[in-house]
Amino acid sequence: MLSKYFKPGLLEKIAAKAGTPVYVYSAPVFLKQVRAYQKAFKALDPLFCYAMKANSSRGLCALAAKEGWGADVVSGGELYRALRAGFKPGNIIFSGVGKTPEELDYALKAGILFVNAESFEEVLELEKAAARLKLRAPLSLRINPDVDPHTHKFISTGKLGSKFGVSFEEALKIYVYAAESRHLKPVGAHFHIGSQVHSAGPYALAAGRLAAFMLKLASRGVNLKYADVGGGWGVKEGGEMADPAALAKAVAGVFQGSGFRVILEPGRSVCAPAGLLLGRVIYRKSGGHKNYIVVDAAMNDLVRPALYGAKHPVALVGAGRGPEKIYDIVGPVCESGDFLAQGVRLKEPRPGQLLAVYSAGAYGFSMSSQYNSRPRAAEALITGPAAWRLIRRRETYRDLVAAEK
Ligand code: LLP
Repeated sequence: MLSKYFKPGLLEKIAAKAGTPVYVYSAPVFLKQVRAYQKAFKALDPLFCYAMKANSSRGLCALAAKEGWGADVVSGGELYRALRAGFKPGNIIFSGVGKTPEELDYALKAGILFVNAESFEEVLELEKAAARLKLRAPLSLRINPDVDPHTHKFISTGKLGSKFGVSFEEALKIYVYAAESRHLKPVGAHFHIGSQVHSAGPYALAAGRLAAFMLKLASRGVNLKYADVGGGWGVKEGGEMADPAALAKAVAGVFQGSGFRVILEPGRSVCAPAGLLLGRVIYRKSGGHKNYIVVDAAMNDLVRPALYGAKHPVALVGAGRGPEKIYDIVGPVCESGDFLAQGVRLKEPRPGQLLAVYSAGAYGFSMSSQYNSRPRAAEALITGPAAWRLIRRRETYRDLVAAEK
């Protein structure tokens, strides 16, 4: 259980200093996941590009950058943050279905490794940007391999019928065009089949299709260097990442010795177990056959339970009282969808007691908002057995209106 990494005494100290709600991350757990990937993929020696969208906080990203990882970004904002966190431009790739001309310009000026384009029109826009800047844009195409990753429909991306990528037929036309352009340089091919993928089978299938396609391209004189197999390796809420050895085996089974350099884009599996959301109990109440614990953290801080029905384990920090009861853990936001957990078994907390929501290191803070004009949470990073620091201060009411005229 993840709680062994987050000692109650330290959580109390952090909450007392930083206030609540606060995201608390563990650098040792984050690095443990990073190293598990490195170990599993040692023989293949891929480039790991951390998917910034999972958690783009500088304090965490800098840890990955220091380990020699690159970054996978999906917006100009993420590119800005990636550069600021210390990722080398030559290790950054830019994915996403709707990059604007300004974002493409920014990426080319920054000198990133390549752009993962998702349509012919985007490739034409990239070509224009490169012509303006008098250079050749390194290009990779996101291809939809038509593989079912067996995950939640909102985070399944690798089947035809999703908005992502282009088909193999379309990709072939685009590569042939790009190879002849003075301002485009085809360097890679990419797929990302989805997120929370718990078995390696779909990766093996998609990688096999990608490799065959890359060989076909080579026979037509388009020689790519990078095979980017995306992210998405699952991690059970409340647990640590499943050993990525199975994933490594599937990918290496296809690409070991192929001469292509593999790229991986893990996000969640690296940071989900490394973080929790800490809130304080404000009230307890019962009504309509239910018991509620009202905490000061809400759906604006962690939207995953409301949006995907995600079940994040919750636990009281310190002991509760009396026998266990069944509770819904809810926040102050004015929506019935504002819950962090439902039907969980806990002893009774006292008002003011801390409650931890586990596996919140990924898509927690990065998806948070100021809904209900709630300033966004603080973020703290545990760096050793008793050491921690604030990596983002809590927003203030002034922050809420700072951009308003
Ligand atoms: N690469 C690309 C192109 C992606 O679109 C994604 C995630 C990743 C890599 C990283 O996937 P990961 O290793 O984190 O699963 N908000 C949702 C997850 C959305 C994932 C979107 N794309 C959630 O909270 O479950």
